[in-house]
Amino acid sequence: MTVQAMPKVELHTHLEGCAPPAFIHALAYEKKIDIGGIFNADGGYAFRDFDHFLKIYEAACTTLQTPEDFRRLTMAVLEETAAHGVIYMETFVSPDFCGGGDLAAWKDYLAAIKDAADEAEAKFGITLRGIVTGIRHFGPEACKPAARCAAETFGDFITGYGMAGGEMVGRPGDYAYSFDMAREAGLPLTCHAGEWGGATMVKETIRDLKVERIGHGIGAIEDRAVLDEIIEKDIMLEVCPGSNVVLKAVEDWASHPIVKLRDAGVKVTVSTDDPPFFHTTMTAEYTMLNRTFGWEVEDFQQLNQTAIAAAFCDEDTRTCITKRLEPTS
Ligand code: ADE
Ligand code: ZN
Repeated sequence: MTVQAMPKVELHTHLEGCAPPAFIHALAYEKKIDIGGIFNADGGYAFRDFDHFLKIYEAACTTLQTPEDFRRLTMAVLEETAAHGVIYMETFVSPDFCGGGDLAAWKDYLAAIKDAADEAEAKFGITLRGIVTGIRHFGPEACKPAARCAAETFGDFITGYGMAGGEMVGRPGDYAYSFDMAREAGLPLTCHAGEWGGATMVKETIRDLKVERIGHGIGAIEDRAVLDEIIEKDIMLEVCPGSNVVLKAVEDWASHPIVKLRDAGVKVTVSTDDPPFFHTTMTAEYTMLNRTFGWEVEDFQQLNQTAIAAAFCDEDTRTCITKRLEPTS
């Protein structure tokens, strides 16, 4: 079986961040929206560093204005992701970009996304679940309506609550209200931490937000006590190596700590984060893990088993996906 055809699970993607540049370009043209110079000469997204990436990302999002735009986006993303063997994917969706935190509007966007997900499941054999996401650099107050949207729509499609955005804005504890609201509604939790903020940010995130998973978490490698806490609390890291390399959270693939984390006993999985921004796919991630660290089929099977075990889906879905991950020969 080719690397591309191998069945895969990815738990850390951002729905808007999966939008191909040509898709955003076409929407901007259709709607006559000036999104500024967000593309390079090759038609790819152009950004200098993480802060600039967030600005370009948000500029691209201004073209996504209606539930219908999100329906088209979801279909396009799932067709492309399924072509790389992904059979189960979790994606972050932000009420901020889907109706500005208004609950009624959010429900309309969600219905369109779920509709497309159902259609894509039938057509392409990929299952999608959504994690409602607050945007950290929009501030603690803006995260509250996002958490309320999560609490009110938790169910078959929305399976978790999380936070993305500028990690160095505020401290994790500033966002505890939103995480508490989501937890009290029964949602499992994840939060971006340790992409930029090191082991201290991971430690505070676990302490103050009581998450089940951490987005990235690579900074934990700096502190053995934090690694031990991650292991003891059975927290799983959603590692996105290609994203880390392009955004320069690490110097290059060879110095990425994913092997050290795994060898230290931490549960790691691999995802693409925002694939067109980082010129990556799940096929490319696996290919680079093979080239850089010599990872083989057994390592990838282990990654996928860890991922489906830590997925926020219901048990029937977990059982069904686990079966589809089993080696065929
Ligand atoms: N939003 C989209 N991608 C992100 C990343 N890698 N880190 C934080 N926020 C994000
Ligand atoms: Zn992310």
